[in-house]
Amino acid sequence: MKVLVTGGAGYIGSHTVLALLQQDHQVVVFDNLCNASEVPLARIEAMTGKHIEFFRGDIRDVAALDAVFGAHQFDAVIHFAALKAVGESTQKPLAYYQTNVHGSVCLLEAMQRHQVTDFIFSSSATVYGELAIVPYLESMPLGSPSSPYGATKVMVERIMADYAAANPEFRGVSLRYFNPIGAHESGNLGEDPKGIPNNLLPYLAQVAVGRRTHLSVFGGDYPTQDGTCLRDYLHVMDLAEGHTAALNWLADHPQQRGIEAFNLGTGQGVSVLDIIAAFEQASGVPVPYEIAPRRAGDLAAFWANADKASTMLGWQAKRNLTQMMHDTWRWQSQNPSGYSEE
Ligand code: NAD
Ligand code: WQD
Repeated sequence: MKVLVTGGAGYIGSHTVLALLQQDHQVVVFDNLCNASEVPLARIEAMTGKHIEFFRGDIRDVAALDAVFGAHQFDAVIHFAALKAVGESTQKPLAYYQTNVHGSVCLLEAMQRHQVTDFIFSSSATVYGELAIVPYLESMPLGSPSSPYGATKVMVERIMADYAAANPEFRGVSLRYFNPIGAHESGNLGEDPKGIPNNLLPYLAQVAVGRRTHLSVFGGDYPTQDGTCLRDYLHVMDLAEGHTAALNWLADHPQQRGIEAFNLGTGQGVSVLDIIAAFEQASGVPVPYEIAPRRAGDLAAFWANADKASTMLGWQAKRNLTQMMHDTWRWQSQNPSGYSEE
């Protein structure tokens, strides 16, 4: 199949591009590089010996979208491009609605103009909101996430549902990611956030490599076994393979219409202290940390029920916490400054 991947130069997008090429799909990447560079794409080409066509453009730029859809007949679109920093979204809500919501509408309109029906969307566990009971199940209603970022994911899921109701040809899949971490097992691809990392694993890995002095553990008094928050961490290559599974499921089900949501997680809750211990064990590097105040907006504990993806897509997370930590460390130690040295 020929697949348009928006945001394909980013963290999850680049790993998915690799998984798609490994399954002999053709890939065109569309990315404005606001949070990425072309280096991972060059590395993927070197790893696979396959060409990736790259368009530098913004998903809100209708002419740029028409150029790429005009140049290729796509079988499907996988839509990663978005702004994703939860804290920043409370400071710059309009930028988040502009890129994540308006940008998604521009993309769906371009698909409609060019008669492309198959759409896989990067959604998030945050769509369940703050009141949902764990483990999260796809049959639960969309909630009210506290951040503008989370609200954009709920809105795009609503837009997909409304569009599907009006356009009987549309075939949409929402993949609700839990906490993707880790890196490709080669150490060639990984997560390279700009500035101070917001997320746990990139911060921890930068402490381990000596770029930061210590990790602040946000909250030690949650009602969990060790007082720190529980999350459902999954390996980014498992997540990437969730996308190829969804793409293949759509292709194998030509009668499928409308939208379908799938949780992509392991089904296990793991604490921040568990993560630190697993990382130290895998890397052999001590990680200095201190217990700091809670971070606003954090929930104590959530994890997925991932049975639907297993039953319908035949997808299950295969890589364990030890492998996630080994691969995080391989990436960070081989690329202490991320992609910026090239
Ligand atoms: P990322 O920032 O590494 O990747 C996003 C990519 O989109 C970047 O390459 C960026 O340059 C590009 N982009 C941003 N705005 C664009 C625009 N207007 N036009 C074109 N390209 C644009 O982030 P990621 O972690 O790989 O996340 C990918 C997707 O998955 C996002 O939609 C994110 O919201 C979603 N998601 C991420 C996580 C996570 O923990 N990383 C969890 C749940 C959902
Ligand atoms: C994990 C745990 C922190 C950093 C976010 C988004 C979510 C999704 C994934 C996009 C929490 C703790 C963190 C640190 C810490 N993104 N922590 N010290 O908040 O579960 O999810 O990313 O869709 O929508 O909200 O991930 O990695 O930021 O935090 O103690 O320096 O690590 O408190 O318990 P989170 P995270």
